[in-house]
Amino acid sequence: MTAHGPFSPRDWDAHPPYVYPGYKSTSLRGPTKPLIPLKQTLSELTGPVYGAESVGKLDHDLTRNARVNGEPLGERIVVAGRVLDEGGRPVPDTLIEIWQANAAGRYIHKNDQHDAPLDPNFRGSGRCVTDGEGRYKFYSVKPGAYPWGNHPNAWRPNHIHFSLFGPAFVTRLVTQMYFPGDPLLDLDPIYLGAGEGARELLISKFDLEITEADFALGYRFDIVLRGRDATPAQE
Ligand SMILES: [Fe+2]
Repeated sequence: MTAHGPFSPRDWDAHPPYVYPGYKSTSLRGPTKPLIPLKQTLSELTGPVYGAESVGKLDHDLTRNARVNGEPLGERIVVAGRVLDEGGRPVPDTLIEIWQANAAGRYIHKNDQHDAPLDPNFRGSGRCVTDGEGRYKFYSVKPGAYPWGNHPNAWRPNHIHFSLFGPAFVTRLVTQMYFPGDPLLDLDPIYLGAGEGARELLISKFDLEITEADFALGYRFDIVLRGRDATPAQE
C-alpha cells in the first residue's frame, strides 16, 4: 500500500448532482439529507494495489475475450488514453474495468430485455492495468444505442462504462465515455447531469494515431481522477 497526501476536494459543479430530476432513478437512490464531509485519514488515502499478473492476456480485448464460434459483430474500435492525477502526473499500475452493450445495443444481463440480438461471441466486459506512464488500451466493437425507460422515447447515446480505482479509495471513479458527434448526447440526462464545460471531458476524440490501418478506428479518452480537471462521474 502507498500513502498519499490529501487530495483536493471534488468540484461538485463538474460532477452530476446525486439527485438530478431529469434522471429519474437518482430520485430513488440519491441521498435525501445533506452530506457530512469526512476528514481524509490514512484509510481513505491508501488503496488497493493490483499486480499485472492478476489480469489475463485477453482481458483488454473484448473482440477476443469471449469468442465461442467466431468474431463478435460490429464496427471494431480501439480505445486508448492515459490516466492522470490532479497534478497531471500519470497514474501507473491502476486497474481499469469497462463494460458496454454489444453493437446492437444489448447487454448480457437478465434486466436487459431490449428487443435486440445478443452476440454469442461478445460479453461486453474487460479490464486492464495502466503501464508505467499511465497508458491503457482496449479493443472492442462500437456499442449500439439502446432505449431506456427514463422518459418517453429515451435512448442512451453510444457509451462505454469505466471504473477506475486509482491510488487511493478517494480516487475511485465510475464514469462513461461517449463518442464524438453523437446526436443523442444533447438529449441524454445522464450526460447532461455533468456540469457545462466539464461534460465535454466525457467525449472521446477520434484519433488517427490510435486507429489501426485495415483493422479498427481509434478513439482517445484521457481520464483525470481528481482535482479541477477531473473527469466527471457518470452512473
Ligand atoms: Fe450503459
